[in-house]
Amino acid sequence: MFWNDLKKPFFVLAPMHEVTDFAFRENISRYKKPDVIFTEFVSVDGLCHIQSQEKMAKYYLQYSEIQRPIVAQIWGSNPENFYKASKFIASLGFDGIDINTGCPDKSVVKQGGGAALMKNPKLTAEIILAAKEGSKLPVSVKTRIGFDKVETESWIKELIKANPVAITIHGRTKKELSKSPVHWDQIRLAALFAKNTGIKIIGNGDVLSVDDGKKISEKYDLDGIMIGRATMGNPWLFDESVQYDDISPEQKVKAMILHAEIFENSFLGIKRFNHFRKHIKAYISGFKNAAWVRNKFMSANNVSEMKSVADSLSL
Ligand SMILES: Cc1cc2nc3c(=O)[nH]c(=O)nc-3n(C[C@H](O)[C@H](O)[C@H](O)COP(=O)(O)O)c2cc1C
Repeated sequence: MFWNDLKKPFFVLAPMHEVTDFAFRENISRYKKPDVIFTEFVSVDGLCHIQSQEKMAKYYLQYSEIQRPIVAQIWGSNPENFYKASKFIASLGFDGIDINTGCPDKSVVKQGGGAALMKNPKLTAEIILAAKEGSKLPVSVKTRIGFDKVETESWIKELIKANPVAITIHGRTKKELSKSPVHWDQIRLAALFAKNTGIKIIGNGDVLSVDDGKKISEKYDLDGIMIGRATMGNPWLFDESVQYDDISPEQKVKAMILHAEIFENSFLGIKRFNHFRKHIKAYISGFKNAAWVRNKFMSANNVSEMKSVADSLSL
């Protein structure tokens, strides 16, 4: 079980819907892979429909060997569907399953999934058990520190009783979304509750670099750190030998085109190229004329057009 082989502090790529797809994960794995990679979340209800299963697997659950250990993140509220979806995920060869109990998105919460599970510890425990039984894989949970208010003690103690292999804690309540400062003291408290249980505690929220993450994990006594947004446009993030400020515009464009090539090849007929535009914004930044250069790339409709733009800019 890979979780037991990780050295403290380990680093995890966060699940990000419509961001950390196959191409993103593959690209970052080619530059410098973090210790663990999560997929973006995928609905267990969708995975349980025979008509949509294959399509969803291609869209969300492609991976390659270099992305291992790879954990599929799932969301929903129906234990039976967690059982079935987990079984299917295990059949695809994933290394682990993660259950989302922190997503604040209205449509997810309305269906009783994501952050809504923080209000229902009994159902959450059933879901964790169903995923374990369905997959026989290590099952982890990603969560927050409360729904409307901070309730770390009651919530994390309930989660610990359900015995997931790891708990990632985004140190904000559902109500705080991604705006308020991260409550690292609360994540430390969770780590304290988990002491001697063997459950790994992973801190998450606004971490900008591996160096930052190492300092934070030491200060708050955490097993690992998860990083999300800081990896966008920066596949060098987990490479400590690279300073972002030293990366040239040419290198950024090259990395972006490599990422776009993987995207185009892996999502042909599955996902339209305009989904890639958010990455253009992220890569083409932090240098003189970046806004002007970005606009040029934004007009490209495929990799070949991106390459023409790069040639015209001598990049
Ligand atoms: C665009 C976007 C999509 C996200 N999708 C997911 C998701 O699918 N599952 C999940 O657990 N969290 C999701 N998150 C939350 C992140 O995993 C992470 O907890 C949050 O961004 C804080 O970490 P960061 O400051 O390092 O980005 C998403 C965040 C963003 C910005």
